[in-house]
Amino acid sequence: MFLNEINSHNLSKIRHQKSLILGGSKGLGCSISGCLPNSKSLSRSSSVESVDLSQPASIALVEKHLLSFGPDLVFYVAGGGVYGEYFSKPMHSHRWTFEVNFFRPTQIADLLKKSGFKGKFIYIGSAIAERSESLKCISYSYSKKLAVKTLLSLSEEDLKVRVFSPPYMDTDLLPKNSWPRLESPQLVLNTQVVAAELLKWLAEDSSKDFKTLSEDFDPRHFDWIQRFKYTLPIDKNF
Ligand SMILES: NC(=O)c1ccc[n+]([C@@H]2O[C@H](COP(=O)([O-])OP(=O)(O)OC[C@H]3O[C@@H](n4cnc5c(N)ncnc54)[C@H](OP(=O)(O)O)[C@@H]3O)[C@@H](O)[C@H]2O)c1
Repeated sequence: MFLNEINSHNLSKIRHQKSLILGGSKGLGCSISGCLPNSKSLSRSSSVESVDLSQPASIALVEKHLLSFGPDLVFYVAGGGVYGEYFSKPMHSHRWTFEVNFFRPTQIADLLKKSGFKGKFIYIGSAIAERSESLKCISYSYSKKLAVKTLLSLSEEDLKVRVFSPPYMDTDLLPKNSWPRLESPQLVLNTQVVAAELLKWLAEDSSKDFKTLSEDFDPRHFDWIQRFKYTLPIDKNF
C-alpha cells in the first residue's frame, strides 16, 4: 500500500538492486528486507549464516558475504543497548552497545571505502538517541550519535553513506513498559511505514546533489523529527 506512492521507476531500480541487510531478522530490518526481493539478511539468527556483529571477528564473515554476494546496497540495521543507570549495568553490556552501534558499522564503512565500493552504505540511526542527553541510555545514545557523526565525516567520493534516523518504532527494542508505548502510542510507528519511507528516500536519491554539503543541513541524513510532524513531550527526559 505504502510502496504504491513511491516513484515507481526509481523504486523498481532499488528493488532490483542486490541488498545486504545486517540485522534483518526482525523489526525494521525485516520490514526493509520484505520490500527488497533481491536481498540477503545476516544476523545472529540468520538461516544463511549466523553473524554476531558485537564480535570484532564478525568483520571477516561480513567481508566474505560482501565478496560472494556483491551487493549494491548495504544496510546496517542492527543496534541496541541497555537502559538504566550506567553503573548499575555490567560493563560488558556497554561494550556490546558500542561494538554493535559504533565499531562494527564504522569498521564495515572503512572496509567498503578501501575496497572501492560504489554502492550505498545505509546506517540506521535514531532520531531520539541523536537528541538524547539522558544518563539512562548514555551508551546507546552516544554510540549512535558517534556513529552518525563519524560516518558522515566520509566524503561522497570516499563512500556513499546515507543515515536514516527513525523515531520510536514498535519492535522488540522498545520495552513494553516504556513511556511512549504507555502514554503516547501514536509516537510508536509501524516498521512497514518506516521502511517504506526509507525506500522512498533512497529512490529520490539520484536527483540530489551530495557534493556540496553545508554545515547546517546534510542531505545524506534523513532525520524523521525534522521531516515530519512528530512532537516529543517536553516533560520527558529522552
Ligand atoms: N525500535 C525503536 O524504537 C528504534 C528507534 C530508533 C532507532 N532504532 C534503530 O533501528 C534499528 C533496528 O532496530 P529495531 O527496533 O528493528 O530492533 P529489533 O527488532 O531488536 O531488531 C534488531 C535487529 O538487529 C539484529 N541484531 C541485534 N544485535 C545483533 C548482533 N549482535 N549481531 C547481529 N545482528 C544483531 C537482530 O537480529 P538477531 O536477534 O537475529 O541477531 C534484529 O534483526 C537499530 O539500529 C535501532 O537502534 C530503533
